[in-house]
Amino acid sequence: MRGLAGKRVLISGGSSGIGAATARRFLEEGARVVLGGLDKAEVDAAVTELAALGEVSGLAGDVSAEADVARLVDGAVAALGGIDILVNNAGTAWREPFLEITPGHWDRIISVNLRGMFLVAQAVAQHLVERGSGGVILNMSSTNGLGGEADYAHYNTSKGGVLLLTKTMAVELGKHGIRINALCPGYIQTPLNSSISAGLADDFVSGYARDHIPLGRAGLAEEVAAAYAFLASDDAAFIHGTELVIDGGQLAIM
Ligand SMILES: NC(=O)c1ccc[n+]([C@@H]2O[C@H](COP(=O)([O-])OP(=O)(O)OC[C@H]3O[C@@H](n4cnc5c(N)ncnc54)[C@H](O)[C@@H]3O)[C@@H](O)[C@H]2O)c1
Repeated sequence: MRGLAGKRVLISGGSSGIGAATARRFLEEGARVVLGGLDKAEVDAAVTELAALGEVSGLAGDVSAEADVARLVDGAVAALGGIDILVNNAGTAWREPFLEITPGHWDRIISVNLRGMFLVAQAVAQHLVERGSGGVILNMSSTNGLGGEADYAHYNTSKGGVLLLTKTMAVELGKHGIRINALCPGYIQTPLNSSISAGLADDFVSGYARDHIPLGRAGLAEEVAAAYAFLASDDAAFIHGTELVIDGGQLAIM
């Protein structure tokens, strides 16, 4: 991928699943990486696993908490000497029928997936504007940001919000040379989805893929990592303020 070697990359939610695969991919491209995550032991384990690939370090914290976000972004700037690319990836999800969602559960999903996305994006954007040499911000949405999957009203709402946050940031920050896009993966095999499907039938994933995904399988974290790498690269230099769907054709079904 053109233009990623030597780039300084902050990946929120980089300790597991899609974020960990993305850290691996950026290191393979010759970038330097700081990864974040909620759990310190998981962050440390991810850094240990990736250390042989290049320069990588980690910082634990909650993206919905302003003080943690300040530590994450300031820590990444200190470790890397600046940030060129933000992979704004941290997020959480669980199934819950609309009629049963408590205000507390609603607030937690919105707080992590939307407030957290805003806090990290704003802190990094302030750094990029101040430095004055542009940059890239990639916000993690979902196909659930484009349609209303049952039992995910809070999650769908958070991911829909990420799409409009992305467009508005693109409109305001393009003049600073900062490119901003969103990613909309469909069903990807990650620890998050394993925990959601743990209480469901053994053949849930294969049945879901057969019924809903034209390619007939769930996606891989590495396939979303490739999309992050492309959108961050110079090959995507005129792609701005939009979303890339990575779903095996799921949204093409009428
Ligand atoms: N797996 C899918 O099918 C899928 C599809 C579309 C979008 N996504 C999105 O991709 C992103 C990554 O999901 P994944 O499937 O790899 O999940 P995962 O559970 O494997 O990884 C989630 C990452 O986010 C971090 N995280 C969670 N809550 C956090 C918080 N409050 N503060 C800081 N970090 C926090 C975790 O520590 C971890 O590093 C999420 O934003 C998710 O909504 C996933």
